[in-house]
Amino acid sequence: MTLTSVRTDSALEVLAASLVSHADREGPLLPILHDLQAALGQIPAEVLKPLAAALQMTEAEVWGVVSFYHDFRQEPAGERVVKLCRAEACQARGSEDLAGRLLAKAGISWGETTQDGRLTIEPVYCLGLCACGPAALVDGRPVARLTLPSLEKLAGVA
Ligand code: FES
Repeated sequence: MTLTSVRTDSALEVLAASLVSHADREGPLLPILHDLQAALGQIPAEVLKPLAAALQMTEAEVWGVVSFYHDFRQEPAGERVVKLCRAEACQARGSEDLAGRLLAKAGISWGETTQDGRLTIEPVYCLGLCACGPAALVDGRPVARLTLPSLEKLAGVA
């Protein structure tokens, strides 16, 4: 496991509140994980055991869900998150070249965060913007027809 820790008391407080708010729900694991992700910016390691116990699951089952969905972060993301499309239509419009240049300028690889914590760059596979690629999500906002200057500006590395 590569989960990192946040302050245990705050993580457990968020977990406790989420368990209460989803107490009557069938299949509450995903909503609880979304609550944790939204409040803490990651799924911290220390919640796995109490969460599994509360839902009468094993830690391995909870970990399986956390690790399956890319939006559940095992490490906190940078201040800005750029998700660049790497699917075919965007590749045909030059997305791989753009990505390579952006990653080189930021000095990181796919899925990494810059040392100053300002930027995380992740791959995504089709955003439904195929006709106007290269496309990306910048802090959850879709952007299209990217050029190197526009992408660098959006990523904060211009
Ligand atoms: S291929 Fe990039 S948005 Fe569809």
